[in-house]
Amino acid sequence: MIATVRRARRLEGEVKLPGDKSISHRALILGSIASGKSRLRGLSSGADVQSTAQCMQALGVAFDGTTLDGRGMRGLRQAAGPLDCGNSGTTMRMLAGVLAAQDFESELIGDESLSRRPMTRVVAPLREMDAQASWPPLRVGSKTPLHGISYAMQIPSAQVKSAILMAGLFADAPTSVTEWVKTRDHTEVMLRAMGATVEVDGLVVRVEPADHLDPLDIDVPGDISAAAFWIVAGGLVPGSRLRMPVVGVNPTRTAYVALLRAVGFRVAESNPRNVGGEPVADLEVTPAAGLGSIQVNAGLAAEMIDELPVLAVAATQMPGRSVISGASELRVKESNRIDAMAEGLAAMGADITAVHDGWMIVGPRHLEGARVKSYNDHRVAMALAVAGLMADGKTEIDGAECVEISYPGFFDHLEYLC
Ligand code: S3P
Repeated sequence: MIATVRRARRLEGEVKLPGDKSISHRALILGSIASGKSRLRGLSSGADVQSTAQCMQALGVAFDGTTLDGRGMRGLRQAAGPLDCGNSGTTMRMLAGVLAAQDFESELIGDESLSRRPMTRVVAPLREMDAQASWPPLRVGSKTPLHGISYAMQIPSAQVKSAILMAGLFADAPTSVTEWVKTRDHTEVMLRAMGATVEVDGLVVRVEPADHLDPLDIDVPGDISAAAFWIVAGGLVPGSRLRMPVVGVNPTRTAYVALLRAVGFRVAESNPRNVGGEPVADLEVTPAAGLGSIQVNAGLAAEMIDELPVLAVAATQMPGRSVISGASELRVKESNRIDAMAEGLAAMGADITAVHDGWMIVGPRHLEGARVKSYNDHRVAMALAVAGLMADGKTEIDGAECVEISYPGFFDHLEYLC
């Protein structure tokens, strides 16, 4: 599908964001090994979360869209064939953690993009725990109980951290994971809400083996990573005012909001509250003023990894030289996001140079509509659509249907806000 986007005069209105993707995956996986029925409201409607739901069903878990019948720590059944994780790295890596502890073998497969993504980072710690784990293809299981380990993360990854913590629930002793930058902590928050013992001491997380987990009863908040597209668009399109109710504002996800605020963006938070241990608030975005350039180093990059494509769009409109570095992980996401964004934005007239671990962007530059490619990557498609809202003429995004992965209503919301 080709999506056509034109310059917006202003963006106005209220949008209900899809449920947080990270929390949705975790609720489906952890709810499946809980003892009893979980109620999960507001799950992400994206294809990635559907992949997780289908994998859990293939493992014998009954789920009707809201009620999930947890089978207990030892109740999953071997699937009849390979588990299809689709495009979703989060499904594949986190599920590998739970399935590595089961006494049957599972094979996890995915689409062309997922099949190219690195899995050694999850296989290596699982093997250290004495699981049978190999890749490619990704096969996991165990013949003997897993061992608790202390693991120092080399690459910051909440998916890998979560896989180790989930496997740690089934181990014979506590497991600890040490990060060098704090990645999203939804697994830790959710496990605690389910009665597991999870201690956090700075950058060290320690989980104790559990013999049972309490079921969940949660309202998944709106996805702050989906909000990023509207924060950049609303901040840069003059005269805009947009509201997003009930958005998750967990501090391990909001570093990009702080960065944008520091360079002139206006994002107001109101009605702060707590839902199932996760902080939420209503957001209102109005135009930015007194813009300055952005500088992102490796630590910051890890904290805002999913928002970097749309931050690159923002940087094209900032005065001065913005540098986004330490983000080589972007090369192994759903697409090579460094090259995909550099190609799309350069075609639209931006001054952007791709380097091995990020971009150098000089702004502000006047953008012109162009025909650009999503590379089947939802965040690239949405980031380029935001660029299109600031460009003259029409921007055509080739392969725009991939927004279904995390934000099926994205183009409807775009039309509505315009
Ligand atoms: C996620 C972690 C991040 C992020 C992904 C979701 C999660 O991946 O990019 O969209 O839910 O834990 P990495 O763990 O590879 O950094």
